[in-house]
Amino acid sequence: MSRLDVTETFHGISFPGHLHTQDSLQLAVQFHFQDTDILIVSYPKSGTTWMQELVTLVCSRGDPHLCWTVPNWTRAPWLEQYYCAAVLEAQSTAPRLITTHLPYHLLHTAIQDSKAKVIYVSRNPKDVAVSFYHFHQMANFLPDAGSFPEFLDGFLEGTLNFGSWFDHVIGWTQTKAVENLLHVTYEEMSLDPHGTIKKVSLFLQRPLGKEEIDHCVKHCSFKSMKDNKMINYTLVPQEIMDHSKGSFMRKGEIGDWKTLFSEEQSRHFDSVFSSKMQQSSLEFLWEKPNDEEPRVEQQLPQNNTEQKK
Ligand code: A3P
Repeated sequence: MSRLDVTETFHGISFPGHLHTQDSLQLAVQFHFQDTDILIVSYPKSGTTWMQELVTLVCSRGDPHLCWTVPNWTRAPWLEQYYCAAVLEAQSTAPRLITTHLPYHLLHTAIQDSKAKVIYVSRNPKDVAVSFYHFHQMANFLPDAGSFPEFLDGFLEGTLNFGSWFDHVIGWTQTKAVENLLHVTYEEMSLDPHGTIKKVSLFLQRPLGKEEIDHCVKHCSFKSMKDNKMINYTLVPQEIMDHSKGSFMRKGEIGDWKTLFSEEQSRHFDSVFSSKMQQSSLEFLWEKPNDEEPRVEQQLPQNNTEQKK
């Protein structure tokens, strides 16, 4: 299936037609979750692939064999993409690891009565916007990004593929409807990988020993993932992802938004952010703290409830 120039509109949200069809999207919103399922949820460019690697490693107690031999889209398929049903059917072992970029309002009926464990990954939206902009340059299944100011307008208005970042984050983090939800931020994965892996392993009821955690940290580091063709998307043909125009594992930094945002764009972003996030008490880390600053853990959400003021 190529359909690189096709866009599917589903409940008012655009999805790349390359991997999404009306049928696959409809199947996703009616999906029957099993209680043993692990669902990774994110807005694109928030650290989805990183979490796929991290959960794979936690489930195999730090052994990288699966990470090195099976592409991420097979071991953690996207629920809304057309091949998902076939991949899940071919899997015989629990837990099933599933990924989705769908917003809460499209998935809540399917997930609400399930005991599936949901891991929601978020990232500060200025970095998401910049990462997404660069990704548009290499991903031939996404529309032309235009100039960065045009792209940023689309991001703030929620008209890009996958819809509004604001709706996504507010929907998944403010609701009490999902019982088993752990919220993890890109920034805490970056600044406290050991703590994050411990937290995820406890949430998944697979506590790990110190050495096992060390192995997980090593194998899901930026460097290790950048070199792993099962996760760096170099297995994807050039006409679909053009690696001469960028890398999927691009920079992996907190605060890279500063390389593209002007001061005026940053101020405008802040004002849209304050108005749209009025109903949310989430706080984001916009730049990497200095070593002299107070301990990082204190600035990061520790779990879902502690994020509320
Ligand atoms: P950048 O473009 O800022 O480098 P997603 O998987 O949701 O599409 O997110 C991709 C982003 O996560 C990219 O961000 C990528 O480099 C970053 N990323 C993936 N694995 C990472 C890791 N191990 N450490 C830091 N960043 C990582």
